[in-house]
Amino acid sequence: MARKKIALIGGGQIGGVLAQLIALRQLGDVVLFDIVEGLPQGKSLDIVEASRVDGFDVNVKGTNDYKDLEGSDLVIITAGLPRKPGMSRDDLLTVNAKIMKSVAENVKQFAPNSTVIVISNPLDAMVTLFQKITGFPHNRVIGQAGVLDSSRFSTFIAWELGVSVKDVNAMVLGGHGDTMVPIVRYANVNGIPVMELLERKYKDSVKAKEVMAAMVKRTKMAGGEVVELLKTGSAFYSPASSAIAMAEAIIFDEKRVLPTCAYLQGEFGVSGYYVGVPTVLGANGVETVVEFSLDTEEQAALDKSVASVKELVEAMTRLGF
Ligand code: APR
Repeated sequence: MARKKIALIGGGQIGGVLAQLIALRQLGDVVLFDIVEGLPQGKSLDIVEASRVDGFDVNVKGTNDYKDLEGSDLVIITAGLPRKPGMSRDDLLTVNAKIMKSVAENVKQFAPNSTVIVISNPLDAMVTLFQKITGFPHNRVIGQAGVLDSSRFSTFIAWELGVSVKDVNAMVLGGHGDTMVPIVRYANVNGIPVMELLERKYKDSVKAKEVMAAMVKRTKMAGGEVVELLKTGSAFYSPASSAIAMAEAIIFDEKRVLPTCAYLQGEFGVSGYYVGVPTVLGANGVETVVEFSLDTEEQAALDKSVASVKELVEAMTRLGF
């Protein structure tokens, strides 16, 4: 199998961790692009100089020239500003839409056959804009949000129950904002419902519901919690790892069922918008949207989340993008 070529657009915090993870896992050769001169070159050199120690053998090239993207199989985009304390993801819309426009035009020109994972925020709007500008098939343009939001939710559940996070399955759907929808009903520990375990722990169903509500709230605000602590930027280790899980599913045609910011055409009652839903991810990107029935409360929460995605996309259109 020929080695894959993976282009990373944005050589900042997430871009750097992505490059290192790809090298450590030998997923393919890396091109790390940034507009800042020296930054991607310096990070690439730094990563590659650990290759003897870590025992990996891939190329990592830093560049300021989009031409180096030619032949890329996969493109992961983190170009754009991160949040500062007090900002919502949506506050990044104007500045990051401008950046995404130039990124999309260049990816279209130099990597027209690539599959693309967008991480830049506000995520749902940035994926929408990238697809609109490139005209790439919807299955090949996806966004990373739900894998991370679900991992955060799983982490909080594992801490609360005192079990290994490896045995926790929990999924978060909807937009990547405060209206995201953690699916409590199906959260489980190796198949055992989390709500039942909480009720047994507290011997009180009201208390169990309160504890779950607090975990749901923390999940929704988890990105902001990190921003408040870091003060100078937003989360970068966990978004990078989450995108790598999606990249591996695509590169190795794993058919993993992962929550993806995917284009909906009637699924979950939504048409014409990118929203976080479970999908089968494989060599063709999003191969299927995995539908399941939501109860009234979950559907209402998803509808609310979709409404905020629509508002954001409309705001972007009004700005001329
Ligand atoms: N083209 C390419 N890269 C760009 C451009 C552009 N037009 N404009 C800015 N960049 C680069 C910056 O030079 C910077 O190195 O994007 C990089 C972004 O890196 P960081 O500022 O460190 O941000 P990071 O933490 O990596 O987050 C990137 O992902 O999760 C989202 O909200 C986050 O939108 C943010 C993005």
